[in-house]
Amino acid sequence: MNHTHAVEMRQITKRFGPLVANDRVDFCLRQGEIHALLGENGAGKSTLMRILYGLYHADEGEILVNGQPAPIKSPKDAIGRGIGMVTQHFALVPPLTVTENIVLGYTGAFRLDLKEAHRKVAAASAQYGIEVEPTALVKNLSVGQRQRVEILKALYRQARVLILDEPTAVLIPQEVEQLFATLQHLQRSGLSVIFISHKLNEVMNITQQVTVLRGGKVIGSVTTSETTPAQLARMMVGRETFGVTKDPPGDAGTAKTALQLEGVTAHDNQGLPALKGISLAVHAEEILGLAGVSGNGQSELAEVLAGTRRCTGGRVSVAGRDLTNAGPAEMMAAGVGRIPEDRHASVVGEMTVAQNMALEHLDSFAPNGLLKRRQIQQHAEKLIAAYQIKAAPGDKIRTLSGGNMQKVILARVFEQNPQVIVVAQPTRGLDVGATEYVRGKLLEQRDRGAAILLISEDLDEILELSDRIAVIYEGEIMGILPAAEADTERLGLLMAGVR
Ligand SMILES: Nc1ncnc2c1ncn2[C@@H]1O[C@H](COP(=O)(O)OP(=O)(O)O)[C@@H](O)[C@H]1O
Ligand SMILES: [Mg+2]
Repeated sequence: MNHTHAVEMRQITKRFGPLVANDRVDFCLRQGEIHALLGENGAGKSTLMRILYGLYHADEGEILVNGQPAPIKSPKDAIGRGIGMVTQHFALVPPLTVTENIVLGYTGAFRLDLKEAHRKVAAASAQYGIEVEPTALVKNLSVGQRQRVEILKALYRQARVLILDEPTAVLIPQEVEQLFATLQHLQRSGLSVIFISHKLNEVMNITQQVTVLRGGKVIGSVTTSETTPAQLARMMVGRETFGVTKDPPGDAGTAKTALQLEGVTAHDNQGLPALKGISLAVHAEEILGLAGVSGNGQSELAEVLAGTRRCTGGRVSVAGRDLTNAGPAEMMAAGVGRIPEDRHASVVGEMTVAQNMALEHLDSFAPNGLLKRRQIQQHAEKLIAAYQIKAAPGDKIRTLSGGNMQKVILARVFEQNPQVIVVAQPTRGLDVGATEYVRGKLLEQRDRGAAILLISEDLDEILELSDRIAVIYEGEIMGILPAAEADTERLGLLMAGVR
């Protein structure tokens, strides 16, 4: 075994404005290993690898390839040094064939000798054990097949280091197994692989070394055979224990079920299964926190409950009444308030604060089809005072800060006294003061008797507010714990799909 590193990244720092996406990161890839880059969403994994592939430029730090300083200014430089990357969003040209995509931009000749190119691609396919159909059009391929074309394209360009950015996120389990078999095959032929993931079981399964990033910093690098999923979860999430600092929870055990989901299934925008049989009951006077790494079905679940995404199976009921596939208006009328993840999408930016506050129950302000402007104005003044919103009724809502905009949305929902509240990422992007305010209001609503489903990727938030905590992973509920029995380690494992 060669003792120089295939890749060494030293003290890499990358800033986006005030945000430090990579903070003096050291990363070493040995020849011939499969090395996981593990971390939660936003930890800085993609940024680091985009730097290695020449898509981003580091503000500080240096890169060595095979022990030699290797300034990488573009993907062309990276490819020239034997580094290939398969990104989360494929860069293939759909109307062209597999061969054309693989050979594209690589042939020195002015005209492509197609027959010869097909032959070469077929040969590479056989050599690396990666099944592709050279003459197929990329637009007709499945996601898994496209990924194989991307991998083969990198290998065709003589990659000796292959970077895969969350390659399994888009695959079904059978394709994941096939991908892993391919990676092991490539490893035996001497390739080094950087495997980006936030899934502990995959990392434990396929890699020899794991480097964990959190908040842009390296938390540690450990040998896979010498670590455990629990240790990795701790490194990823950062805390082991937490203090319960809230009021005692409502009497959830005997309280009535306000929101019930039974075996709910739904597809994502790509038509792939996103919810695979979700069963949950949220009681009156309770906050049920739904923890999970981004992209495991949370958005789809919130949309189902908002009435904006159809479920393909199962049942949704509110206070015992069947509301499966009810539309947004019907959901709202049934007492389901929602505070969506994307606050800009739930207001009309060009309309005023007052108009936005009236938006969801316009009929009460326009009994005869005529808007009662004075009532709308007074209603807004009342809510602005009650929620300490720093804005005037006539301000365009798009001019408000995130915290004030979120208060408008809370005011609009809470003044309806909804019996169920579905809230997603309520404090994302807010400053400390606004965050505390929003969390306090949610607790107030619970104490008033509302059943709250709190969907959040912020584990601290889930732990601070929830009476019970459910964990979602790949569209399934991995477990439900009383908050008092939940700690970061248990939750982290469930979030990573380890039961
Ligand atoms: N092009 C960009 N402009 C601004 N911020 C960015 C950009 N790319 C990434 N970020 C930010 O950098 C941080 C790290 O992101 P990323 O590397 O994508 O994390 P990961 O891949 O671990 O989920 C995040 O806060 C993200 O929002
Ligand atoms: Mg990423």
